[in-house]
Amino acid sequence: ARTGIGRAHAKSILLGEHAVVYGAPAIAVPLHALDLTVRVSERADEQLHLRSALFTGFAADAPQRLHPLVTAIHAALALTTSAPLGLDVEIDSAIPFERGLGSSAAVAAGIARAIGDLTETPLDPEAVHDVVMAAETIAHGRSSGLDGRAVASDVPIRFRAGEVTPVPVGAPLTFVLADSGHEGSTAEAVGAVRELRETFPSRVDGVIGRLGAIVEESLDRFATGDVPALGALMDEAHGLLTELEVSDATLDRLVGAAREAGAAGAKLTGGGRGGCVLALAPDAARAAHLETMLRDAGATRTWQTTVETA
Ligand code: PMV
Repeated sequence: ARTGIGRAHAKSILLGEHAVVYGAPAIAVPLHALDLTVRVSERADEQLHLRSALFTGFAADAPQRLHPLVTAIHAALALTTSAPLGLDVEIDSAIPFERGLGSSAAVAAGIARAIGDLTETPLDPEAVHDVVMAAETIAHGRSSGLDGRAVASDVPIRFRAGEVTPVPVGAPLTFVLADSGHEGSTAEAVGAVRELRETFPSRVDGVIGRLGAIVEESLDRFATGDVPALGALMDEAHGLLTELEVSDATLDRLVGAAREAGAAGAKLTGGGRGGCVLALAPDAARAAHLETMLRDAGATRTWQTTVETA
């Protein structure tokens, strides 16, 4: 039987989440430490069988949570020539679910790559992105497309209205991610911002505009590796996301703990209302201390990631 393998990594949004849905720019980085592998093999029958941490069984019986994943499989099969009739799909993922880390986009990218590998005609990056967007539309409703680009990029990116450009980083930046332990529904958070904007259009548009301006201001700071300035922009962004009502008491507590522990800046990352907090370490040597303090403050897990470009 033909077999294939596909990989993808998690991502974290540094700046611009939510505003990006309204056409503002955003910046996201790859999280290489959190990744997943998808293995596919052709079946003798015409069945689609899944094996993952959440569910093992035939795709037709998969719970709602896995519908985006099933959509990705069908979308990828439709884009390949000599597609198999039946398929075993096995997902081995280290990316936590619904934490703003791009797990749904990463699974879809891994599936597209694995199916391309099986048919020996790798899908090109645009085809992989089409598969991811088909799945993301089911997972998140209207999505900016940022997650799909971020999980497929090996470098930090600036994303705006579908356009992707690499972000040069002048000196290594070490970030600590802390999991609040609560799932955050991106679809719900995005819907809440939409409703808030319908009620208070000028106030919300002002916040969105400032979130976008922060992204543009940050580009020079990334280029020079200006940690204090980047931290200040992250702090301001968290305040603005709080105004959009996508933070919560747990996220605010973790952000406060990170700042007390000496972080240059801290904010929620991704959709919010659960999910993760991202803190910028003043230097790499102090990242471990930040992790300890965040776990003491209730984070269920923490990770470090260093962002740099050549
Ligand atoms: O929660 P995540 O990591 O899927 O990030 C969502 C980012 C939003 O800007 C809130 C939504 C979007 O489609 O860009």
